[in-house]
Amino acid sequence: MVESTNQVARALAEEGAAHGTVVVAARQTAGRGRQGRAWESPVGALLLSMVIRPGAEPLLPLRAGLAVARVVGPKARVKWPNDVLLEGRKVAGILVEAQGEAVVLGIGLNVAVDLAHLPSEVAARAGSLSLPQEAIPQVRDRLLSELHVALGGAPELMVAALAARDALAGQAVRWESGGAGSALEGVAEGIEPTGHLRVRDEAGTVHVLDGGEVHLL
Ligand code: BTN
Repeated sequence: MVESTNQVARALAEEGAAHGTVVVAARQTAGRGRQGRAWESPVGALLLSMVIRPGAEPLLPLRAGLAVARVVGPKARVKWPNDVLLEGRKVAGILVEAQGEAVVLGIGLNVAVDLAHLPSEVAARAGSLSLPQEAIPQVRDRLLSELHVALGGAPELMVAALAARDALAGQAVRWESGGAGSALEGVAEGIEPTGHLRVRDEAGTVHVLDGGEVHLL
């Protein structure tokens, strides 16, 4: 049990841990999600963080999403920028945090999570692979192997593979633009080789998003 595998991996990175150093835990007491949110880490989750050197690369979270989706199966979709969905429900979240010249890639995958163990507002959107607890080590090993492939793949191959699993392509979406309350809407047109999301609004203007939250309408 740790507070957060990302926190442990960041401490290791600070001490000079090599690229590929992996931290795995069965439970977290203070799992971290994107945008300062908490990440619920009930029994049955695969909680994994990896030290990545030399550091930030725009496609990194999407490469990780692709690796997770390949483990989850053909129906899994990557929801830009950091989620993996199965039948519209979030089965995995990805958090990339900078640590000096390295970054830490954190992945939480609901392998054997009983959704009843999640707070109701989380459970409403969450999914689980519904595998037995005993499957977690095998899923972990498959994930590490898919990460090895996806982290080293040519960007154009990654973008093509993402296009086939893009949860947002052709869908109406809403996103925050600038200050709070200034939401825009449009239709997602795919992920750019830079990792940005293209969205076309009703007036035909193309917006290139580089982060933040995007909601399916
Ligand atoms: C999200 O908000 O969707 C990202 C969630 C990332 C959760 C994982 S669980 C393993 C690693 N350790 C953390 O504290 N967070 C990430």
